[in-house]
Amino acid sequence: EVAGVSELLLSRIRDVPDYPKPGVMFKDITPLLADPAAFAALTDTLAALSTRHGATKIVGLEARGFILGAPVALRAGLGFIPVRKAGKLPGATLRQSYDLEYGSAEIEVHAEDLAAGDRVMVIDDVLATGGTAGASLDLIRRSGAEVAGVAVLMELGFLGGRRKLEQALDGAPLEAL
Ligand code: PRP
Repeated sequence: EVAGVSELLLSRIRDVPDYPKPGVMFKDITPLLADPAAFAALTDTLAALSTRHGATKIVGLEARGFILGAPVALRAGLGFIPVRKAGKLPGATLRQSYDLEYGSAEIEVHAEDLAAGDRVMVIDDVLATGGTAGASLDLIRRSGAEVAGVAVLMELGFLGGRRKLEQALDGAPLEAL
């Protein structure tokens, strides 16, 4: 099921060399988003995975995780919870910082959106170093909720994100299409 869809999805991802800086090959998902058949196939596949892993809520990671996570949540019949870069959410939040190559970053979620009894699937476009997804898993666990898994369109395997996430996943699945 996922194998057939992967070919279609891969064909709609554009490699942009030297963006945003020299030596980086940027994976541009805008051709996929512009193709309704490919976008639907991606949404359906991620929704099916979320259901299979028993998710009761969908978390999307800013910003491209919002574009993918929102239709997945609707398709799966689940609520959508945005995890945002710090300073964007108006209510009481849980905040988590994580290391970047140089410096650090912070993400937040509304505290009232996640609680014990929730089972959360994290959706994003790319797993690179795993820093962002790892911080989101820490947030989810701190809220008292359970982690159903992480599902991404693409995993950049050479950056070792999967290994970095191992501890935070604690046995939960990491799905990469
Ligand atoms: C990208 C991508 C993931 C994250 C992956 O988002 O969409 O969220 O980086 O990188 P990591 O595994 O090394 O943490 P970015 O921070 O560029 O944010 P944007 O989608 O708001 O541009």
